[in-house]
Amino acid sequence: MSAEMTTTMENDLPVAKTEREVLLSIQDLHVWFELRRWGFGHAGYVRAVDDVSFDLYQGEAIAVVGESGCGKSSLMKTILGLHRPTKGTISFNGQDINKLDTKGMRWYRAQVGYVQQDPFGALPPFMTMQRILEEPLIIGGVKDKTERLQRIRKTMEEVKLAPVEDFLEKFPHMLSGGQLQRIVIARAMILEPKIIVADEPVSMLDASVRVEILKLLRGLQEKHNLSVIYITHDLSTVSYFSERIFVMYAGRLVEKAKVQNLLRNAGHPYTHALLAGTSDPDANNAKTFKEVPPGEPPSLVNPPSGCRFHPRCSRMIKGECDLNVPPEFEIEPEHQVLCWLHK
Ligand SMILES: Nc1ncnc2c1ncn2[C@@H]1O[C@H](COP(=O)(O)OP(=O)(O)OP(=O)(O)O)[C@@H](O)[C@H]1O
Ligand code: SF4
Ligand SMILES: [Mg+2]
Repeated sequence: MSAEMTTTMENDLPVAKTEREVLLSIQDLHVWFELRRWGFGHAGYVRAVDDVSFDLYQGEAIAVVGESGCGKSSLMKTILGLHRPTKGTISFNGQDINKLDTKGMRWYRAQVGYVQQDPFGALPPFMTMQRILEEPLIIGGVKDKTERLQRIRKTMEEVKLAPVEDFLEKFPHMLSGGQLQRIVIARAMILEPKIIVADEPVSMLDASVRVEILKLLRGLQEKHNLSVIYITHDLSTVSYFSERIFVMYAGRLVEKAKVQNLLRNAGHPYTHALLAGTSDPDANNAKTFKEVPPGEPPSLVNPPSGCRFHPRCSRMIKGECDLNVPPEFEIEPEHQVLCWLHK
């Protein structure tokens, strides 16, 4: 993030002018998985991500919310370079990541750390903590063993697994869920990435350690000026953690806004359906997203025509919403909604 001080003509008071640098730019991204039926061959596509665009600024935390199966993990895995886009681009510092060669891709993967949802499944059971953390360093080309050990110690201290000696030789089954998630975070951080992608990072943990883990992530974000993409269902943690929020429905980002603006002035009927207790727009009082709003999520193989939410929407405009795909309407600065109600 670069910030400069300017003065206004009106009052000559210094004003902080913040110009943030775009770190990651997602344009027109489509991620479709081919469906093949045994004996029949091609049977269509699962349109997990469909026409998604956004910029992520350096040092910014964004949250992505949406019900199960809407495409959140597919979007994240494509950003991590684990899926190739069917169409569209992902640019990191202006460089299209899908045009990188093998060496370039290895470099890019080191720029994006991944914190999985399930710390119990994310770590290989027969490896010690030292080995788990050493592996990315070896792959990342850190040849010197002493340097590797130094970096492991430093990162373990950062995630507050100290004294380090107590943990280095332990296997995953010897640690608690919270300690395991700290190791997952250490593994994501060890190559000093610019971005952390955290996919429901605390949903599998006891309530007692969730806040500690979120505070740890927040602290690391501030200390290292990291950009964070955070997938969650928990609105109270969104407001704690993120500056902007993206609501995803059936492969599309149907609403994008600053967190407070979305809570105060949600523009999409799906966002309203997700928000539990919409009567209380205060982020500190609003607690959770409803996991499942009324009605069935649509098929991503044959998604509904027009607006994909129309079969579940109480405000559907017949002849418009069921026929025409809504474009992005800007209802206030930095607040976009895919909904014909804002035409
Ligand atoms: N590798 C794959 N091959 C085929 N289909 C896939 C693949 N990965 C995901 N899908 C499908 O894409 C759709 C979106 O899945 P995804 O895992 O991205 O959703 P999600 O929003 O992360 O859900 P959840 O909240 O349950 O984790 C689903 O229909 C899923 O079955
Ligand atoms: S475009 Fe129409 S169907 Fe879709 S959310 Fe808006 S009002 Fe509902
Ligand atoms: Mg997922």
